[in-house]
Amino acid sequence: MRTPLIAGNWKMNTTVDEALELVRAMKDELEKIAEVEKVVCPPFVSLAPVKELLSGSAIKLGAQNLFFAEKGAYTGEISPLMVADLCEYVIIGHSERRQYFHETGDVVNKKIVAALQADIIPIMCIGESLEENEREKTKSVVSEQVRAALAGVKSVSGLVIAYEPVWAIGTGKSATGEQAGETIAFIRHNIADLYGEGTAREMRILYGGSVSSANAAEFMQQPEIDGALVGGASLKAGEFINIVSQASAIKSRK
Ligand code: 13P
Repeated sequence: MRTPLIAGNWKMNTTVDEALELVRAMKDELEKIAEVEKVVCPPFVSLAPVKELLSGSAIKLGAQNLFFAEKGAYTGEISPLMVADLCEYVIIGHSERRQYFHETGDVVNKKIVAALQADIIPIMCIGESLEENEREKTKSVVSEQVRAALAGVKSVSGLVIAYEPVWAIGTGKSATGEQAGETIAFIRHNIADLYGEGTAREMRILYGGSVSSANAAEFMQQPEIDGALVGGASLKAGEFINIVSQASAIKSRK
């Protein structure tokens, strides 16, 4: 059985005070919801204070990025060792990083390797663009992204994949549960080809892209979808709690 996971990617939102306020607003309700792993990923500057606020809590902390070198002259970057001190998870290869910060498959691969070495669980993001989707290239694109990101990686135990079609991110236009379920099943086949059936069966693969309380159930009902990476809706305490609670209700029925 794969434990469902709902992660909130806050992106470049919230000051430290706002981050603490948001966590305070959802902490107690989230604590009450069983059988779902809950992760919040605030901006770097809020990780330490949020960690303190979450001490003793079951809510886990994730970073939104890291750099692959351990330390040194890389002005403005954050190393895996720094993240490992604070976080259990790290989002890697988000399409916004690929698009705005020119992260290639090779860079994503180095970051995955560095995160795993530092014992941080990567939430590895993949997904096709609108144009690729329209040209029916989804499968070849996600296959290639998986292969590039995991090149040379021997064990992916614990690693999480988030399938986030680029056209669904921040657009209010989500994939259907069925579309997402089908692509995620295909991603799992790719993992089986690379790492064997057992690893594929254990790997959690999330959907991301305009997930809200209004459509969360549609995704959670898909047996192949193990949770969600939530952007905009994770910045509203009530929305995030609602999504986590739907995941718990639906997944614990199965
Ligand atoms: P939205 O939920 O705002 O579409 O963002 C999805 C996302 O990019 C999560 O990483």
